[in-house]
Amino acid sequence: MTLELAVTDEGSGDAIVLLHAFPCNRHMWDAQIEALAAAGYRVIAPDLPGFGDSAVSAAAPDLAVVAQLVFDLIDDRALGQVAVAGLSMGGYVAMEMLRQQPGRINALGLVDTKATADPDEARQGRLQLADAVVAAGSSAALLDMMPKLLGETSRAERPPVVEAVTTFINEAHPEAVAWAQRAMAARPDSLADLARFAEPALVAYGVEDVLTPVAEQDSMAGALPDGVVAPIPGVGHLSALEAPAEVSAVLIDLLGRI
Ligand code: MLT
Repeated sequence: MTLELAVTDEGSGDAIVLLHAFPCNRHMWDAQIEALAAAGYRVIAPDLPGFGDSAVSAAAPDLAVVAQLVFDLIDDRALGQVAVAGLSMGGYVAMEMLRQQPGRINALGLVDTKATADPDEARQGRLQLADAVVAAGSSAALLDMMPKLLGETSRAERPPVVEAVTTFINEAHPEAVAWAQRAMAARPDSLADLARFAEPALVAYGVEDVLTPVAEQDSMAGALPDGVVAPIPGVGHLSALEAPAEVSAVLIDLLGRI
């Protein structure tokens, strides 16, 4: 039996799928779900395998498995084409969807993500992190990531955002963390897939993001034939949480270009 992802499905109109970051879940997008539904769109936001209310996949770790599960959600709802937006790991999944079924995607939002594959050292680090969380639990290893997940402004001035991210970290199951890290370690470069995507695209990022720096954003924007770049000042990697209204606005702008 194939895994069914837990999902928020709100609003009506043209559909957009929102794919969350590691180690969060679909509630990372709560503000955008509300804003996009109010703007006249149907918003479909799944918990990716192992996060939130979705079970861990029994398949070998691979983002292609995740992309297929998201297409299953779209097929179940008999939706032809959809817009897809993903933040960081969610962006990697969006690019995998583009590789699998490009004709199903009518707009692409890449938020604080990157199209390049991991260099060897980063890949080794992910595999070590996966082994460490399986042996000793998620929280300690992931709390070390906090300075990178949030921008310095948020860490200093937005305590509720720090609290929300701490909760995501504490709730992330070790098996999900390990599966996702191994799957991300195996992902290929996606720049050639972006270069073939002629529909409206968005490259949005927090200016204080140190995990997916501006050079990565420039290379995605350079590859996309119809890419609009939206730098968001005063926020870091988890921009959807750090600047919810700004991220909603750039997504609504993307949908308006379809
Ligand atoms: C994320 O926010 O999804 C992660 O930072 C992605 C990654 O580890 O590359």
